[in-house]
Amino acid sequence: MKLHTTKQSLAAGLAGERRKGRTVGFVPTMGAFHEGHLSLMERARAEDDVVVASIFVNPLQFGPAEDFARYPRDLDADAALAAAAGVDHLFAPPLEEMYPDGSIATRVDVGPIGDVGEGAWRPGFFSGVATVCLKLFHIVSPDRAYFGHKDAQQLAVIRQMVADLDLPLEVVGCPTVREPDGLATSSRNAYLDAAARRAAPALAGALLAARDAAAAGEESVAELRWLVERYLEGEPAVRLQYVDAFDPETFRPLERIARRGASGGKAILAAAAHAGGTRLIDNVELEPDNVAVEVAG
Ligand code: PAJ
Repeated sequence: MKLHTTKQSLAAGLAGERRKGRTVGFVPTMGAFHEGHLSLMERARAEDDVVVASIFVNPLQFGPAEDFARYPRDLDADAALAAAAGVDHLFAPPLEEMYPDGSIATRVDVGPIGDVGEGAWRPGFFSGVATVCLKLFHIVSPDRAYFGHKDAQQLAVIRQMVADLDLPLEVVGCPTVREPDGLATSSRNAYLDAAARRAAPALAGALLAARDAAAAGEESVAELRWLVERYLEGEPAVRLQYVDAFDPETFRPLERIARRGASGGKAILAAAAHAGGTRLIDNVELEPDNVAVEVAG
């Protein structure tokens, strides 16, 4: 595996691959690798000739009170894990390589999808994500880019941008990887102290209970929300911030989930909660034969 810290070095490394007509798979990340990241790299390894991963803790997607400064960074450990997962080129630019003046003025405006769900709690977050991904897509020019369903709204934002701006790449969504107790793997799980770590799987437990209720025919999102709240009353160390149902593609909020036969659509039930001082997000897909019929707002 080659480690690149400049765009020029990466471009030189990829030029030879492209001349040979090889396909490039790309996994953008912020590092602190865990099994979720590695599953994306392994998927790319299986589907593409050349695998590129990036590590860049992107300041544009952190709010002023958020954890940019203390976000976990360990390039040596990440490089070893990426190499073992089959990554050929690891692009880990310093801040000034991406933003020579510390930041950039241009932003991708993602529209209404950026104002709901995570976006309602993290203003500017999805614009910051889309902006850095557009930059990275131009730097890497991948044939495919891999994103996790763990961040379902981010996946929808990237799909929307790729479609709206005619970006010449395929976006591949990959399943959420979980710890044995159900907690979705995340770089931020490293912040959890022992008590918060013990409590944290309740978020996934609550979402799965709601998914079961939806599969059994519950159509009201208010009911599903109430189920999640009631489940989490049993784990006071996990404090729910929001839980809402969304159309998986547009992320339009839904009020009802309705069954519509075998070929019906899907819905995402997404939530954020605090365990100790750590903010966790998770989501589940409601049964594939359930489809939303009403849109809130
Ligand atoms: P990061 O949080 O490092 O995640 C990188 C990729 O790994 C994302 O596509 C994310 O959805 C995926 N991922 C994280 N946890 C996962 C899990 N438990 N199972 C499956 N996939 C998982 O997401 C970002 O970085 C940034 O916003 C980025 C897209 C790199 C832009 O800065």
